[in-house]
Amino acid sequence: PEFSFKYSDLQVRLAAPYQLQPKPDASALGFGKYFTDHMMKVHYHKELGGWQKPEIVPFEYLTIHPAAKALHYAIQLFEGMKAYRGIDDKLRLFRPDLNMERMNLAAQRSGLPMFDGEELIGCITRLIQIDQEWVPHSETSTLYVRPTLIGTEPTFGVMEPDSALLFVIMSPVSAYYKTRSDGAVSIYADPSVVRAFPGGVGNRKVGSNYGPTIEVTARAAKLGHQQVLWLFGPDKELTEVGAMNIFVVYINEHGDKQLSTPPLNGLILPGVTRRSILELASQWEDITVKEEVITMDRLIDLNNQGRLLEMFGAGTAVVVTPISNVGYVGENIHIPTMKQSQPLFQRLKDTLLAIQYGHIDHPFSRIIS
Ligand code: COI
Repeated sequence: PEFSFKYSDLQVRLAAPYQLQPKPDASALGFGKYFTDHMMKVHYHKELGGWQKPEIVPFEYLTIHPAAKALHYAIQLFEGMKAYRGIDDKLRLFRPDLNMERMNLAAQRSGLPMFDGEELIGCITRLIQIDQEWVPHSETSTLYVRPTLIGTEPTFGVMEPDSALLFVIMSPVSAYYKTRSDGAVSIYADPSVVRAFPGGVGNRKVGSNYGPTIEVTARAAKLGHQQVLWLFGPDKELTEVGAMNIFVVYINEHGDKQLSTPPLNGLILPGVTRRSILELASQWEDITVKEEVITMDRLIDLNNQGRLLEMFGAGTAVVVTPISNVGYVGENIHIPTMKQSQPLFQRLKDTLLAIQYGHIDHPFSRIIS
C-alpha cells in the first residue's frame, strides 16, 4: 500500500539496564509466558494522514480507551512467527512474507489499515536483533513473534476504526502442547459445534476465531483430549484443529502412500507450515500429495480397512505434532500414527526443523542476523 509506515522511519528507544528482565530457564518457558525487553509499535490515525513512525520501545503496558473498538467488537488480528537460532548462530525467520500477506488480508476484512509487509519485516528484524539474546540457544525452543493489530478508535459504532495500533511482542517458547508421553496428542471432534462457515473469517487470523473455541476445548480436555478437531457440514468434513492444520496419510486406491489435507475453501486457516509441507512433500517421489475433502466417514473407513497410516497437525506454534486418537461421538478412535516404522510426520518435521535451524540452506529461511 502507498501509505505504509516505513522501516527507514523506525525510532529506537532502548531499555535502561535496570529495566532488563532476567531470562527464564529453558525448562520454564511454556508458551507465551515470558516477554522480551523490547516491543515494536506503530500508530495509525486517519486524521493525521494514516500510519505514523514505527518505534521500538522498552516493553510496556498499553494505555487504551475502554471504548476502543477492539475491546468491544473484536476488531483485531494477530500473527504467529518464530525466530530461530541456527547451528551457525545466525538468526532466521521462516517465510515471513507469507505472514505479512495473511496479516494484510485479515486487516482488509476487519476494516483495519493495510501496510507494506516488507516494511514490517524490517522493523521486526530490528526488534529481534535488539533482543537477540532472547532467541534461545537451543533447537527445542524458539522466539515466538506476535504481531498484533487492534482498532483503537474509542466509539461504539460498528464501523471501520479511524485509529489503530500495530504492535509486535516476542516470547521465548518451548512446545505448545503438553503431549502424551509418546509425543502425540489426542483430538476431539464434536459435530454439534462449528468453527467457521462459508463466507466467514475461518481463513483469517482474527482473535474472534479463537475465543469462541474455549468452552469446547475445555470440554475436550475433561475427556482427555488436547485439542478440538473442527468439523463442518452434514458430511462432517475435517477442517482444522484451531492451533494447527490437519493432515492424514493413507494408502490410496492405487496402493500409493498419499498425504492429504483439506483444501483452502475459506473454512481453513492458510497455514505457512501447511503450505510448506505441501510444497516439500510434492517434491518427494514416494509420496502422492493431495488437497481434498476428508469426511469423518471416510477417515473411519480408511482406518477400519487398515489403510490409514498417520494423522498429524502442523502450524507455527506446534511445528508438526502427531495425532494418536480422535474422540468422536462417544468413541475413541485409535490412529496408528505412532506405530509406523518410518512415519512421514517425522520426516516432514525433521526437514522443516533442518531448514529453520540452518542445517540445510533453503529459500524458505531468511537470515536476519
Ligand atoms: C501459531 O501457530 O502461531 C498460532 O497462532 C496458533 C496459536 C493460536 C497459538
